[in-house]
Amino acid sequence: MQEPEPIAERRRYGRLKWLTTAGPTAFVTVAEVVRFVFLRRWLPPAEVSLVAILVTLVGAAAFSSFVFGIVERMERERTAYKEAMLALKERERLAREMHDGLAQNLAAINLKVHRLSHLLAQRDLEAMAEELVAVQAAVNLSYTEVRQSLYDLKAGQRLAEGFWTALEKQAEEFHRQTGVAVRVEPLPDRQEPWNEMAAVQMLRIVQECLANVRRHAEAHQVRIWGTIQNGEFRLTVADDGKGFEPGQERDRGHHFGLSIMQERAESVGGRVVVQSTVGKGTEVTVVIPIR
Ligand SMILES: Nc1ncnc2c1ncn2[C@@H]1O[C@H](COP(=O)(O)OP(=O)(O)OP(=O)(O)O)[C@@H](O)[C@H]1O
Ligand SMILES: [Mg+2]
Repeated sequence: MQEPEPIAERRRYGRLKWLTTAGPTAFVTVAEVVRFVFLRRWLPPAEVSLVAILVTLVGAAAFSSFVFGIVERMERERTAYKEAMLALKERERLAREMHDGLAQNLAAINLKVHRLSHLLAQRDLEAMAEELVAVQAAVNLSYTEVRQSLYDLKAGQRLAEGFWTALEKQAEEFHRQTGVAVRVEPLPDRQEPWNEMAAVQMLRIVQECLANVRRHAEAHQVRIWGTIQNGEFRLTVADDGKGFEPGQERDRGHHFGLSIMQERAESVGGRVVVQSTVGKGTEVTVVIPIR
């Protein structure tokens, strides 16, 4: 996806640079003219200096609040833009997931139901029983996928109960759906030394990791633990599944999960480190700065 925003933003920063150069220069020029042409005629030198200091103080405060107002607005717009881009990517992925998973499952179910009516006409009960088992399995699979997608979409709301509780519930839900055991090890005293934005992103990254475990890992166990090292919080999701070769997999098209994780972490000043060994499992660590 082409991103027009950084160019527009560079232009705005360029204009801001001009403004911060031209603004004070114009102010000083006008002030000096007023001082030399008028003030010096009307007031003694000590008072002229006092007036000059006061006017400079007021002018500098007004100018700095004006410039900071612009910078803050640009920063807010940039955050909103990043969020919107991530949401768009996620929507794209959801559409792809629905196409690959749900739509294809429904098409398969449709075929099987047609076959069932055909078998019914032939009174072939044995083949019908077999076909019914297959229909049931396909329906169950679709049900699981829809629930997982709905769960993913509601991640933000869960944070109301606190990050660790949300994570534990997510782990329980994952265990119920997949049978894979997940152990969550919070920080001592269940500390949460990060802001809400970082918490939302971390929760989504963990969801993405669990989705990968479900889809690719064939794991028996997942362990999620938090540590604080060198002023950074590290949240690791490790599985004992079949692993993969990180560099190679990511280069291929149509794999967005790992890159979305990286973007999510970067949007709150962090990063994601993926370590995986074929046959030994995968470890994804989110590193974020703490308060
Ligand atoms: N926990 C894991 N165990 C084994 N393989 C994994 C694991 N996580 C990722 N992979 C491998 O890395 C690839 C890239 O993962 P990524 O999440 O980026 O894409 P994806 O899961 O294929 O698609 P999506 O865009 O829907 O997430 C996967 O296709 C899979 O081969
Ligand atoms: Mg994935």
